[in-house]
Amino acid sequence: MKDNVTITGAVHQDRIHDSAAKHVTGRADYTDDIALPEGTLHAYLGVSDVAHARLKGLDLTAVRSAPGVVGVLTAEDIPGVNDISPTGQHDEPVFPTEKIEFHGQPLFAVIAETRDAARRAAALAQVDCEVLPHALDPQAAIDAGYPHVTAPLKLERGDVETGRDAAPNRIKGRMQVGGQDHMYLEGHIACAIPGEDEDVQVYSSTQHPSEAQHMVAHVLGVPSNAVTVNVRRMGGGFGGKESQMNLFCAVAAVAAKKWNRAVKIRPDRDQDMTATGKRHDFVIDYDVSFDNAGRIEAVEGCFAARCGYSSDLSGPVTDRALFHADNAYFYPNVRLTSRPMKTNTVSNTAFRGFGGPQGVIAAERIIEEIAYATGQDPLDVRKANFYGSKGRDVTPYYQEVEDNILDRLVGELEDSAEYRRRRAGIIEYNRTSPVLKKGIALTPVKFGISFTATWYNQAGALVHVYNDGSIHLNHGGTEMGQGLNTKVAQVVAEAFQVDFERIKITKTTTEKVPNTSATAASSGSDLNGMAALNAVEQIKTRLVEFAAEKWGVEPGAVRFLANQVHIGDEVLPFDAFIKAAYMARVQLSAAGFYKTPKIHWDRDKGQGRPFYYFAYGASCSEVTIDTLTGEYRIDRTDILHDVGRSLNPVLDKGQVEGAFVQGMGWLTSEELWWDDAGRLRTHAPSTYKIPLASDRPRIFNVNLADWSENRELTIKRSKAVGEPPFMLGISVFEALSMAVASVADYRVCPRLDAPATPERVLMAVTRLQAGG
Ligand code: MTE
Ligand code: MOS
Repeated sequence: MKDNVTITGAVHQDRIHDSAAKHVTGRADYTDDIALPEGTLHAYLGVSDVAHARLKGLDLTAVRSAPGVVGVLTAEDIPGVNDISPTGQHDEPVFPTEKIEFHGQPLFAVIAETRDAARRAAALAQVDCEVLPHALDPQAAIDAGYPHVTAPLKLERGDVETGRDAAPNRIKGRMQVGGQDHMYLEGHIACAIPGEDEDVQVYSSTQHPSEAQHMVAHVLGVPSNAVTVNVRRMGGGFGGKESQMNLFCAVAAVAAKKWNRAVKIRPDRDQDMTATGKRHDFVIDYDVSFDNAGRIEAVEGCFAARCGYSSDLSGPVTDRALFHADNAYFYPNVRLTSRPMKTNTVSNTAFRGFGGPQGVIAAERIIEEIAYATGQDPLDVRKANFYGSKGRDVTPYYQEVEDNILDRLVGELEDSAEYRRRRAGIIEYNRTSPVLKKGIALTPVKFGISFTATWYNQAGALVHVYNDGSIHLNHGGTEMGQGLNTKVAQVVAEAFQVDFERIKITKTTTEKVPNTSATAASSGSDLNGMAALNAVEQIKTRLVEFAAEKWGVEPGAVRFLANQVHIGDEVLPFDAFIKAAYMARVQLSAAGFYKTPKIHWDRDKGQGRPFYYFAYGASCSEVTIDTLTGEYRIDRTDILHDVGRSLNPVLDKGQVEGAFVQGMGWLTSEELWWDDAGRLRTHAPSTYKIPLASDRPRIFNVNLADWSENRELTIKRSKAVGEPPFMLGISVFEALSMAVASVADYRVCPRLDAPATPERVLMAVTRLQAGG
């Protein structure tokens, strides 16, 4: 540990994001900043203006003859397979041939000399189709007898019926939880440059370069080794660039090969929002039985999701909703089912938490129901139902919760936020305040870390040490602002004991590390940090062997310390030592690899250990609502979050703050709204409201649980941080619920759906005042 202080940028230390200065000065290169080759063409998508129809013909005459147009790309121009389904279900064509399945579905692409010419021409198509009835939301889809887009999951443990019979109380309820647009600052983009033979280079803003590579190869009908996908960084991804980029990469690549010119495609924001998938909205039916003290005996839950027209990632997303429908609570008897519904809307996809948040909010609603029914402080009901010791530590999927820190974490936040004192004060305030009402809630999070598709939990890295002692770091993860590259470079700096500045962070490319997984499921630093460390260890092993032999010392006498290498009594600067190793023909490059141990999952049985470990957190929010308008303000939020032994506390805090605000946005102001024709009417920042700086909590105390350490052997005992804190936003929702409940003296749990927009808050207040 002491050695750390002598190099810059070691692990467990605050280190600014490696690109922070470039982000704010405009010198960070995004895909749109790449200098284009001579003669680059531009593509734009032509889309459908009906939600469901049989496609009879596409008349593109006017499109082709528009100024600047070089040609059009339709399903017929696809040389390979017309499918970009990420899960191999063959239900997602690049362009459809028989059926239009949502409003805004891409039907063809225009290729023109300029982006403006392509965009204008795209609107000139005549689409001949026979309109069919559509179903837009999960309930309409169920009513219309629509199929599931993928097989539902059932998790069952204990005996729900027996548990229910034994319990004196039972509540059934339904909650609707809205979706969410990713609102990354940088939208979708791809640029393809044709090479010789079958080759093509693609530059894109994608979280999943390997999948884009495999999809492009498959659409072009060429082997994967002909296609290279590169990404230096994204201006945000949030799950929206895990599978959604496939379309743009495929269009750019097919056009580039067809015209043998570079082709770039960048939709405008409206098209980005209408043509690409979002967070799944859910209709959740819950049925909970509990004793008079509020202890849960049995839970049944059905989670119906709006998946959109194709499966995309809806299977794993709805699975993860079930995996998190317990959140922090032990359910003695439980049955959970998912209903991934096909709908005539854009195909929904990954979004921070990946279905987990929709499960967690159901658990928290169940707790609130019990609290109101038994007249208790919801925090007491939460604590009474926390996972605990043997017998109360098994999840609905039979994984034991071995690393439970809920009591300590929640207890510390309860104290530091002065929850009890403030809650009493709020109840007092509400008694005398006629219009403004306050609420407070403290909610926990437990989030499972690992891809539930076990094979995804692998990663590779490539590390070169050049003979001048400079280090080139490459790994399979992608940078989207979360600081992954900074963290992995810290791991490498620490392992070689050299300054951070010595390490060059390079773009992610399928040429250097093959068959990577998406940078997703919060696993980026867990996986790639380990793979990079493995590469460094290989190089160090060779270096130690070389030094021991050359200087005639025991391997144990060779030590890397503070930009130097100590060999017995001899001390060499790192560069000089590397030069000597090079002269002695030591291999100074290595490919590292890592796969997560211990995990397994049997989906048919609904049993296993899908998660390597859990990350925990808790937040406490206080709000004030105006009962005449429904408007509200977040007065204060306190957070205590667990990242194990943080690789970089300042970056992790940034992740916690950002995730909380994004989670709060999901549950408060961000509302996706489709009209009856299936048109998304909230397709730009003008109509879709993400939180602004002015919406942040007026007092915002964010802390990491600095005593926490991962009990598993993760990279430097840290824990993943990307997604878990998203669910801390739920404390805002439940605080709003309490403020609403105050108008009826907290006798009933308000019917509040998410997002709790001012309109919904006002409606809930009015309903309660009317006695309903
Ligand atoms: N942070 C920023 N700034 N931008 C992003 O796009 N994506 C989130 C999270 N934090 C995101 C982010 C999501 S959805 C995931 S899964 C993780 O980062 C992915 O990165 P990691 O695995 O390296 O944490
Ligand atoms: Mo994050 S939704 O797993 O990209």
